Amino acid sequence: MQCWHGVPPASATIRYPGPCYQHRVTGPPSRALPGPALAPERAGRAPTVGNVAYFDAASAEPLHPSGREALLAALDDGWADPARLHREGRRAQLLLEQARETVAAEIGCRPDELSFTSSGTQAVHLAVLGAVQARQSAARGPGHLAASAVEHSSVLNAADWLARRTGTAVTLTSVDHLGRADVTEFAAAVARERTLLACLQSANHEVGTLQPVAEAAAACHQAGVPLLVDVAASAGRLPVPDGWSLLAASARKWGGPAGVGLLAVRKGTRWREPFPSDDRENRRVPGFPNVPAILAAAAALTAINRERAVSDTALRALVGRVRSEVPRTVPDSVVHGDPDARLPHIVTFSCLYVDGEALVTELDRAGFSVSSGSACVADTRQPSHVLAAMGALTHGNVRVSLPRDVSAASVSEFLEALPPIVAKVRDTVRTANAAALS
Ligand SMILES: Cc1ncc(COP(=O)(O)O)c(C=O)c1O
Repeated sequence: MQCWHGVPPASATIRYPGPCYQHRVTGPPSRALPGPALAPERAGRAPTVGNVAYFDAASAEPLHPSGREALLAALDDGWADPARLHREGRRAQLLLEQARETVAAEIGCRPDELSFTSSGTQAVHLAVLGAVQARQSAARGPGHLAASAVEHSSVLNAADWLARRTGTAVTLTSVDHLGRADVTEFAAAVARERTLLACLQSANHEVGTLQPVAEAAAACHQAGVPLLVDVAASAGRLPVPDGWSLLAASARKWGGPAGVGLLAVRKGTRWREPFPSDDRENRRVPGFPNVPAILAAAAALTAINRERAVSDTALRALVGRVRSEVPRTVPDSVVHGDPDARLPHIVTFSCLYVDGEALVTELDRAGFSVSSGSACVADTRQPSHVLAAMGALTHGNVRVSLPRDVSAASVSEFLEALPPIVAKVRDTVRTANAAALS
């Protein structure tokens, strides 16, 4: 049987490994993670990836079996340069366009509005710089950009880059204590004279709170300002909201491979290449596209969107358990984000008197992979700008983001393991402080 969930074989001569994942009864064999041997505490744990309870799907969802299947097949069939006229090139081009049609249908746009990038960050950078450049006018001087204060660092860095290089004024609008953008303030910023672009994420990547995209889009429409919606946190988890002029996403968040992002520019939205021109991807993205990875991303997106009706309820309930149990079992802890209007799979909490990195390390030793700090810039050890904008406790925070195939048992084990681990880290801090004072 051959099936790619909407990414059909390009021709009868192309052979794909079968049977299709979704038609298997038992599912694919689990694979051990490569690398150093795992700590003994991990042995025997209910596996989600290898033998680790992996709770960092908001950074990267494990590759979906449909994506893996498509990737392996496409490595043989989609390796050639899709811009070439020979048969290998034409075959790669055909596969690329099939993937584009599939993804465009999933996110709700025309195929010619969609370009594949090498990451979500690249998609955001191209969206921000290209939209601002197209609407800037040398005669009228630098313009203005509005964004919520809890956007991903890729949006904030692009805005900062524009501010420093072109003098673009940037307004970061506030959020409430749940992390929800203040629509009135956002609309006022958008209405400011010479606003070239507004940016609002569909949902927050650290605390999971959904953003008021429909209201923001209405304000942008009224002011004649294009709206960039970064759907990286929600794509594959929730339907893509309407009202965007530009859209950015990242395949590794929905079970596609790393190294694939989406940039969509609605017809009629002004956009100009911000970097040296290149023929690829509708002249929007420089460089050779990774056709096999793009096909895998398309297959994974189709599959995860189909599975969503079932997985959403289960994930939502498990995150609900974490939300209610952590404050009950861990003294001096607080759970962040909107309890109801939220992504199904993400929850962040903070524990007073401890360092987030120390908690992550201890949890990792115990077999639970979670993240902390400012997601995506955790290595800089900066406090989370999202939690800071919410007026929340920024240190000692842990983000738990459940992958699609998480087991309820592994979440129960986590909830059981957490209170003694927090107590142990607090003891270590107390002892170190006492020693420093003596
Ligand atoms: C909301 C959001 N936007 C953009 C990105 C950037 O995507 P990528 O990691 O593929 O560059 C991320 C990654 O974490 C994200 O969470």
